[in-house]
Amino acid sequence: MENFDSKAHWQKVYQQKQPTGVSWFQTEPFISLDLISHCGLGCADPIIDVGGGASVLVDALLQLGYSRLRVLDISGHALAASRRRLGAEAERVTWVEADITTYAPQEEYALWHDRAVFHFLTDASDRRKYVKALKQALRPGGYLIMAAFAIGGPEKCSGLPIVQYDAPKLLAELGPEFRLLEERRESHVTPEQQIQQFAWFRLGYLETGT
Ligand SMILES: C[S@@+](CC[C@H](N)C(=O)[O-])C[C@H]1O[C@@H](n2cnc3c(N)ncnc32)[C@H](O)[C@@H]1O
Repeated sequence: MENFDSKAHWQKVYQQKQPTGVSWFQTEPFISLDLISHCGLGCADPIIDVGGGASVLVDALLQLGYSRLRVLDISGHALAASRRRLGAEAERVTWVEADITTYAPQEEYALWHDRAVFHFLTDASDRRKYVKALKQALRPGGYLIMAAFAIGGPEKCSGLPIVQYDAPKLLAELGPEFRLLEERRESHVTPEQQIQQFAWFRLGYLETGT
Protein backbone atom coordinates (compact mmCIF):
# COMPACT_ATOMS: atom_id res chain seq x y z
CA MET A 1 0.00 0.00 0.00
CA GLU A 2 1.43 3.30 -1.08
CA ASN A 3 2.40 5.74 1.70
CA PHE A 4 1.14 3.35 4.34
CA ASP A 5 2.76 4.03 7.72
CA SER A 6 3.12 0.53 9.14
CA LYS A 7 4.67 1.63 12.43
CA ALA A 8 1.87 4.16 13.08
CA HIS A 9 -0.73 1.47 12.33
CA TRP A 10 0.74 -1.03 14.80
CA GLN A 11 1.43 1.55 17.50
CA LYS A 12 -2.23 2.58 17.33
CA VAL A 13 -3.43 -1.04 17.48
CA TYR A 14 -1.47 -1.75 20.66
CA GLN A 15 -2.42 1.63 22.17
CA GLN A 16 -6.13 1.10 21.58
CA LYS A 17 -6.48 -2.61 22.33
CA GLN A 18 -5.57 -4.87 25.21
CA PRO A 19 -3.15 -7.66 24.21
CA THR A 20 -5.95 -10.12 25.03
CA GLY A 21 -8.39 -8.36 22.68
CA VAL A 22 -6.50 -8.56 19.38
CA SER A 23 -7.72 -11.14 16.86
CA TRP A 24 -4.40 -13.04 16.95
CA PHE A 25 -4.39 -13.42 20.74
CA GLN A 26 -3.77 -16.91 22.08
CA THR A 27 -3.64 -17.93 25.73
CA GLU A 28 -1.00 -20.62 25.08
CA PRO A 29 1.28 -20.82 22.05
CA PHE A 30 0.75 -24.60 21.73
CA ILE A 31 1.75 -25.09 18.09
CA SER A 32 4.83 -22.88 18.37
CA LEU A 33 6.01 -24.80 21.42
CA ASP A 34 5.35 -28.17 19.81
CA LEU A 35 7.25 -27.25 16.64
CA ILE A 36 10.08 -25.69 18.66
CA SER A 37 10.39 -28.92 20.67
CA HIS A 38 11.05 -30.75 17.37
CA CYS A 39 14.09 -28.56 16.62
CA GLY A 40 16.19 -30.15 19.37
CA LEU A 41 17.57 -26.82 20.56
CA GLY A 42 19.68 -26.37 23.66
CA CYS A 43 18.69 -23.79 26.27
CA ALA A 44 21.60 -21.53 25.26
CA ASP A 45 20.71 -21.54 21.58
CA PRO A 46 19.69 -18.06 20.43
CA ILE A 47 16.06 -17.59 19.40
CA ILE A 48 14.35 -14.57 17.82
CA ASP A 49 10.59 -14.02 17.72
CA VAL A 50 10.10 -11.66 14.80
CA GLY A 51 7.02 -9.46 15.11
CA GLY A 52 6.51 -11.03 18.51
CA GLY A 53 4.15 -8.23 19.53
CA ALA A 54 2.63 -8.89 22.96
CA SER A 55 2.67 -12.67 22.48
CA VAL A 56 3.13 -14.93 25.51
CA LEU A 57 5.54 -17.17 23.57
CA VAL A 58 8.48 -15.45 25.26
CA ASP A 59 7.00 -16.20 28.71
CA ALA A 60 6.75 -19.88 27.84
CA LEU A 61 10.29 -20.01 26.45
CA LEU A 62 11.67 -18.36 29.60
CA GLN A 63 9.82 -20.95 31.67
CA LEU A 64 11.39 -23.72 29.61
CA GLY A 65 14.83 -22.31 30.42
CA TYR A 66 15.82 -20.72 27.10
CA SER A 67 18.32 -18.03 28.01
CA ARG A 68 19.09 -16.20 24.76
CA LEU A 69 15.78 -14.74 23.67
CA ARG A 70 15.15 -11.73 21.48
CA VAL A 71 11.73 -10.28 20.65
CA LEU A 72 11.58 -7.85 17.74
CA ASP A 73 8.57 -5.75 16.83
CA ILE A 74 7.84 -2.57 14.91
CA SER A 75 5.62 -1.42 17.82
CA GLY A 76 7.26 -0.25 21.01
CA HIS A 77 3.82 -0.33 22.69
CA ALA A 78 3.56 -4.07 21.98
CA LEU A 79 6.99 -4.74 23.47
CA ALA A 80 6.17 -2.56 26.49
CA ALA A 81 3.03 -4.65 27.13
CA SER A 82 5.12 -7.84 27.19
CA ARG A 83 7.72 -6.24 29.44
CA ARG A 84 5.03 -5.11 31.89
CA ARG A 85 3.50 -8.61 31.92
CA LEU A 86 6.87 -10.26 32.58
CA GLY A 87 8.02 -7.81 35.28
CA ALA A 88 11.57 -8.55 36.44
CA GLU A 89 11.79 -11.54 34.07
CA ALA A 90 11.77 -9.08 31.15
CA GLU A 91 15.39 -8.27 31.95
CA ARG A 92 16.34 -11.73 30.70
CA VAL A 93 15.10 -10.90 27.19
CA THR A 94 16.53 -8.57 24.53
CA TRP A 95 13.79 -6.32 23.15
CA VAL A 96 14.24 -4.75 19.73
CA GLU A 97 11.91 -2.09 18.33
CA ALA A 98 12.54 -2.32 14.58
CA ASP A 99 10.97 -2.85 11.18
CA ILE A 100 12.08 -6.27 10.00
CA THR A 101 12.34 -5.04 6.40
CA THR A 102 15.11 -2.60 7.40
CA TYR A 103 16.67 -4.64 10.21
CA ALA A 104 20.36 -5.52 9.93
CA PRO A 105 20.91 -8.53 12.21
CA GLN A 106 24.15 -8.40 14.19
CA GLU A 107 24.02 -11.96 15.50
CA GLU A 108 23.14 -15.50 14.41
CA TYR A 109 20.07 -17.42 15.54
CA ALA A 110 19.33 -21.11 15.85
CA LEU A 111 15.61 -20.36 15.43
CA TRP A 112 13.63 -17.59 13.77
CA HIS A 113 9.95 -17.65 14.79
CA ASP A 114 7.29 -15.67 12.94
CA ARG A 115 3.59 -15.99 13.67
CA ALA A 116 1.49 -13.83 11.34
CA VAL A 117 4.10 -11.24 10.35
CA PHE A 118 5.58 -12.20 6.95
CA HIS A 119 2.03 -12.50 5.58
CA PHE A 120 1.62 -8.70 5.90
CA LEU A 121 4.35 -8.12 3.33
CA THR A 122 2.26 -7.64 0.20
CA ASP A 123 5.08 -5.84 -1.60
CA ALA A 124 7.61 -8.15 -3.28
CA SER A 125 10.54 -5.85 -2.46
CA ASP A 126 9.60 -5.95 1.27
CA ARG A 127 9.51 -9.75 1.13
CA ARG A 128 12.97 -9.79 -0.45
CA LYS A 129 14.30 -7.55 2.34
CA TYR A 130 12.75 -9.80 4.99
CA VAL A 131 14.26 -12.93 3.41
CA LYS A 132 17.66 -11.20 3.17
CA ALA A 133 17.58 -10.40 6.90
CA LEU A 134 16.41 -13.96 7.64
CA LYS A 135 19.30 -15.54 5.70
CA GLN A 136 21.78 -13.16 7.31
CA ALA A 137 20.53 -13.99 10.79
CA LEU A 138 19.88 -17.73 10.67
CA ARG A 139 22.88 -19.94 11.32
CA PRO A 140 23.48 -22.90 8.98
CA GLY A 141 21.50 -25.82 10.37
CA GLY A 142 19.08 -23.39 12.01
CA TYR A 143 15.27 -23.43 11.81
CA LEU A 144 12.47 -21.20 10.65
CA ILE A 145 9.00 -21.61 12.14
CA MET A 146 6.38 -19.56 10.36
CA ALA A 147 2.60 -19.24 10.59
CA ALA A 148 0.57 -17.37 7.98
CA PHE A 149 -3.04 -17.31 6.88
CA ALA A 150 -3.65 -20.40 4.77
CA ILE A 151 -4.86 -20.42 1.17
CA GLY A 152 -8.63 -19.94 1.41
CA GLY A 153 -8.30 -18.37 4.87
CA PRO A 154 -8.88 -14.71 5.76
CA GLU A 155 -7.79 -12.07 3.28
CA LYS A 156 -7.16 -9.41 5.91
CA CYS A 157 -5.61 -9.22 9.34
CA SER A 158 -5.81 -6.14 11.58
CA GLY A 159 -7.68 -4.47 8.70
CA LEU A 160 -4.67 -4.90 6.38
CA PRO A 161 -4.40 -7.03 3.24
CA ILE A 162 -2.23 -10.11 3.62
CA VAL A 163 -0.73 -12.81 1.42
CA GLN A 164 -2.02 -16.36 2.02
CA TYR A 165 0.50 -19.19 1.92
CA ASP A 166 0.89 -22.88 1.32
CA ALA A 167 4.26 -24.64 1.37
CA PRO A 168 5.19 -24.30 -2.35
CA LYS A 169 4.33 -20.60 -2.31
CA LEU A 170 6.37 -19.96 0.84
CA LEU A 171 9.34 -22.01 -0.43
CA ALA A 172 9.31 -19.99 -3.66
CA GLU A 173 9.76 -16.83 -1.55
CA LEU A 174 12.44 -18.29 0.70
CA GLY A 175 14.64 -20.04 -1.87
CA PRO A 176 16.34 -23.44 -2.15
CA GLU A 177 18.37 -23.00 1.06
CA PHE A 178 15.23 -23.95 3.00
CA ARG A 179 13.70 -27.40 3.31
CA LEU A 180 10.20 -28.05 4.58
CA LEU A 181 10.32 -30.35 7.62
CA GLU A 182 6.77 -30.09 8.94
CA GLU A 183 3.48 -28.48 8.08
CA ARG A 184 0.32 -27.99 10.18
CA ARG A 185 -3.10 -26.47 9.78
CA GLU A 186 -4.80 -24.60 12.60
CA SER A 187 -8.30 -23.21 13.05
CA HIS A 188 -7.50 -20.26 15.28
CA VAL A 189 -10.44 -18.95 17.31
CA THR A 190 -10.27 -15.19 17.80
CA PRO A 191 -11.50 -13.48 21.00
CA GLU A 192 -14.66 -12.66 18.99
CA GLN A 193 -15.14 -16.37 18.19
CA GLN A 194 -14.24 -16.05 14.50
CA ILE A 195 -12.37 -19.00 13.00
CA GLN A 196 -9.20 -18.23 11.04
CA GLN A 197 -7.31 -20.85 9.05
CA PHE A 198 -3.58 -20.70 9.68
CA ALA A 199 -0.85 -22.70 7.94
CA TRP A 200 2.25 -23.50 9.98
CA PHE A 201 5.64 -24.44 8.58
CA ARG A 202 8.85 -25.68 10.16
CA LEU A 203 11.83 -25.41 7.84
CA GLY A 204 15.51 -26.24 8.05
CA TYR A 205 18.13 -23.81 6.77
CA LEU A 206 21.31 -24.90 4.96
CA GLU A 207 21.25 -28.36 6.50
CA THR A 208 24.29 -30.58 6.16
CA GLY A 209 24.34 -34.36 6.36
CA THR A 210 20.58 -34.91 6.50
C1 LIG B 1 -0.76 -10.32 13.78
S1 LIG B 1 0.40 -9.68 14.90
C2 LIG B 1 1.19 -11.16 15.54
C3 LIG B 1 1.94 -10.90 16.82
C4 LIG B 1 2.62 -12.13 17.41
N1 LIG B 1 3.52 -12.76 16.46
C5 LIG B 1 1.63 -13.13 17.93
O1 LIG B 1 1.61 -14.27 17.45
O2 LIG B 1 0.88 -12.76 18.84
C6 LIG B 1 1.63 -9.03 13.83
C7 LIG B 1 2.80 -8.38 14.55
O3 LIG B 1 3.81 -8.01 13.63
C8 LIG B 1 4.30 -6.73 13.94
N2 LIG B 1 4.81 -6.18 12.67
C9 LIG B 1 4.08 -5.87 11.57
N3 LIG B 1 4.89 -5.45 10.60
C10 LIG B 1 6.16 -5.52 11.09
C11 LIG B 1 7.44 -5.21 10.55
N4 LIG B 1 7.57 -4.75 9.31
N5 LIG B 1 8.54 -5.40 11.33
C12 LIG B 1 8.40 -5.87 12.60
N6 LIG B 1 7.21 -6.16 13.16
C13 LIG B 1 6.11 -5.98 12.41
C14 LIG B 1 3.10 -6.00 14.54
O4 LIG B 1 3.45 -4.91 15.35
C15 LIG B 1 2.42 -7.13 15.31
O5 LIG B 1 2.90 -7.21 16.63
